This record gives sequence, C-alpha cells and structure tokens, in this order.
Amino acid sequence: MATRRTALGAGLGVVGATLVTGAALTPVATRQAAAAEPAGAVVKASDDAMTVSDRFSVAMPVPPVLRPVSTAGGWDVYDVTMRPAECEIIPGVRSSVLTYNGSFPGPTIMARSGRPVIVRQRNALTMPTSVHLHGASVAQEHDGAPMDTIAPGASRTYFYPNRQPHASLWYHDHAHHMEAEHVYRGLSGSYLLTDSVEQALPLPSGAYDVPIAMRDVHIDGEGNLAYTMGDPERTTILANGKAYPYFRVAARKYRFRLLNSANIRAFDLRLSDGSEIVRIGSDGGLLPRPYTTDRIFLSAGERADVVIDFSRYPVGTGIVLENSAPPGDLAKIGQVLRFEVDRTARDDSEIPAVLRSLPRLPEPTGERTIKLTMQPPNAFIDDKVYDPDRVDAFVRHGASEVWTVVNANEVFPHNFHMHLVQFRVLERNGQTPPPSDAGLKDTVNLMPGETVKLQATFDTYRGSYVYHCHMLDHSAMGMMATMKIG
Ligand code: C2O
Ligand code: CU
Ligand code: CU
Repeated sequence: MATRRTALGAGLGVVGATLVTGAALTPVATRQAAAAEPAGAVVKASDDAMTVSDRFSVAMPVPPVLRPVSTAGGWDVYDVTMRPAECEIIPGVRSSVLTYNGSFPGPTIMARSGRPVIVRQRNALTMPTSVHLHGASVAQEHDGAPMDTIAPGASRTYFYPNRQPHASLWYHDHAHHMEAEHVYRGLSGSYLLTDSVEQALPLPSGAYDVPIAMRDVHIDGEGNLAYTMGDPERTTILANGKAYPYFRVAARKYRFRLLNSANIRAFDLRLSDGSEIVRIGSDGGLLPRPYTTDRIFLSAGERADVVIDFSRYPVGTGIVLENSAPPGDLAKIGQVLRFEVDRTARDDSEIPAVLRSLPRLPEPTGERTIKLTMQPPNAFIDDKVYDPDRVDAFVRHGASEVWTVVNANEVFPHNFHMHLVQFRVLERNGQTPPPSDAGLKDTVNLMPGETVKLQATFDTYRGSYVYHCHMLDHSAMGMMATMKIG
C-alpha cells in the first residue's frame, strides 16, 4: 500500500494560478490544501479514508484506444486478454481488479459502420466469462450470451459486422450469475462506432471528444473491491476508473460520451453552477435534434452524448459534475469529477440544429406486455426467474412489435435492456415521452410503478437473445428472459 504522499505527488504542479471563486463554482485550490498535509501520512485503505479534500487530486484518464493487430482485407482484428491487474482507484491505495488488457476500465475500440471488427478474447481469469457488445446487432453466436461462455484458459473470436449506424456502444462481461460481479470488478469498456453521417457533422472531435464511464464502488479496509449483491455501500464514485478525478479542459466546446457503467446506481447529473448541457445523443447514436438541459439522468447501462461549452468560463474555473441520485450520503455520492478550465483554445466545432434523421416507424405487427418485479433474493420477468432453456417470447423475423414494459415494484427502480435491437420509446406512463427518451435506445429506465411503451423491429438476425433489467445485480438474481426470433 502506498502513502498519501506518493498519490498526491502525481497531482502536484498542475494547479492553475488563476482562481475564480464564483458562487457555485469551485476554485481550483482544494488540491493545494490536501498536498500540504504531512508527507508520508499513511491512509487507511478503505474508501472511508478518502476525505473531501482528497478529491480532484488525480487526473481522469482517458482509456487507451485499442490498436488492431491486423487491418488486412478491411477487417480490424484485435487481441484482448482478460486478466487480473492492480490499479490505483483511490489515491495511494492499490486495488485488485479484473481487466481487458490490464486497463480499468477496458480499452476503447473505435469502429466504423460497414467495416467489420474481430475481437479475439483470451480468458486468463479463473472464472468463465462471456463478452457482450451492448447495443450491437450481431449473430447469436457472437452476442456473448449468458451461457455461451469462455472457459478459463480458453479463447474465443467474436465477429462484429458493424452493419448498423453510429452509436456509443460498450462491451462487458455477461457470464450467467457472474456478470454482476465481473462487471463490478472491471470488465467493461467503450466501443465507439462511427459512420459517414456522424463524421460529416462539425461536432467537437479528436481530443475534444472524450468518453467518460461513470460508476460506483465499495472499497474495503484492505483496498479490495467489496462485492455483495445489492450493496448500498457502493458510494465512492469513479470516472474512467478513478475516484473523484479532475479533468483539465480548454475554454471551448467538448463532446462527452457519458456511460453509466455501474451495476445498479443511476446518475442524475448536473453542473455545479446549474448551467446548460446540450444533449446530442443517446444509446443508439445522435438524436434527430439536440436539446438543451441542465440535467442528465442515466440508469445503469444507458449512454448520453453531450456537449458542454467551457468558453463561458474564465481560465482557472473549476466546475464540478454533480450527482443527486441515491443511494448514499450526498457528501459521498454527490460529486463525480471536476472540470478545470486551464487554457483557451480555438474552436471551429458547432452543434447543428439537425443531427440525423431516423427512419419512420413501421406499422406495428404485434404487441406484448412485460412485467418486472423483484423480491430479493429473486427478481422476475413476468413472474419467472431466468431459465436459459426456456424461450419466453417467440418473435417472427421481420416483425415490428410494441412492448409495454411495466415496473410493478413500488420501491425498486428497474430498467429494461434488449439485446440485438435499438428501439424507440413511444410513451412513458401513457404520455408523450420526454426528450431524454428520444432517439434510438437499447436501455430504458423505469422508476417504481412506471410503464414504458417501446417499439422494436426484428429484421436483422434470427436466433435467441436475452432481454433483462440492466441493474446487473437484478439480472444476476434472475430478472432476465429469452426472445427467439425466427
Ligand atoms: Cu449490457 Cu445483456 O447487457
Ligand atoms: Cu446488451
Ligand atoms: Cu431491476
């Protein structure tokens, strides 16, 4: 275990001299106060020891972009090894995690529509794994189904055709009953699929287009990630694998690909000064039109593409990305990271008024109702726990169905994720859905008692795919079912 000094050393020398002490804005000075503590003071490993003054002392990393081992024939081939690693999640404490290629979270895969990707996954862990590309349309044998696992020591080649429009996808473990713990321990990463529609837009790009995976964790007294199902003590918030980091930005527009990679936690995000965020995208890529908001709500597994314009702040300003979604004391869960404006930069980017057009929804060919309930230690879809040998919904290939999803619990929130398809939200609680439900979705939130009507079209692959609550502790308790398209 390292000392606080070691951890803070990395953060020194980066404090801007110009400080702005605006009302809701945080001056970029707290770090100096923390650094002034006696050198060599040993911290207890647990996240309880991470005080507010330790926050914003390490930079938020941007996960490495994975390099293909081959691009021959227009196919990008990647080699990934799932293996244990150690990393510093809270300053000065080494934690054991599970990783793709040693990276926590996993490396980002950049893909392009029409250009296939092959990922050769080697399982160097001691447990079976299964790698699922969330949001993708892939053949059944490449979907990373719960029972279709890679044994320890074995390898498997996943084929991703990328015959779908741009979208901020993500990959994660899906081994039955173990997905929750595996994802919790680190097995997830981003897969950013682009296309010519997205590329033609003048949105912030390159270094100004940054994925941010947000999640929570409970670190015990030994520095280990404590895992118990449904643990309400996961109250340390991570951005790209670091607790409460800072992220230095230029005073210009940035695009952020926000991903809620937590097992259960939802994030209700706002900027500390309450200023505007432009939402441009959702799970399945860009929205038809951007909208301005001061709040982004993401349940587990959901994504939001946003643009934040830091040109409204003087250099030296710190703006905290705040969270207000429970569980946990706001003193612990109320902050995610701090943006620190440390320079000016030229900005030719723009947010066009129209981002894309979505195909008109076809006439629905059928309807069904899905009921979500939970009574720990079990969780149900239509009163049944998951049975991989049972087909719960037979869907005709080519059908376009309206599914009415009901969260029948009075206290537990749930959400609903379908493999294979991107759907559209038609109604929420009988009303026109809010703009946050717009665009293509693969995961939709349902507060206690809520009902969502969605429409999905099954015109790509045939075969068996799961749908489930993406609060992974719930799906691991059985809140998952199988649809068979044929
Ligand atoms: Cu994120 Cu079954 O998936
Ligand atoms: Cu999925
Ligand atoms: Cu649930």
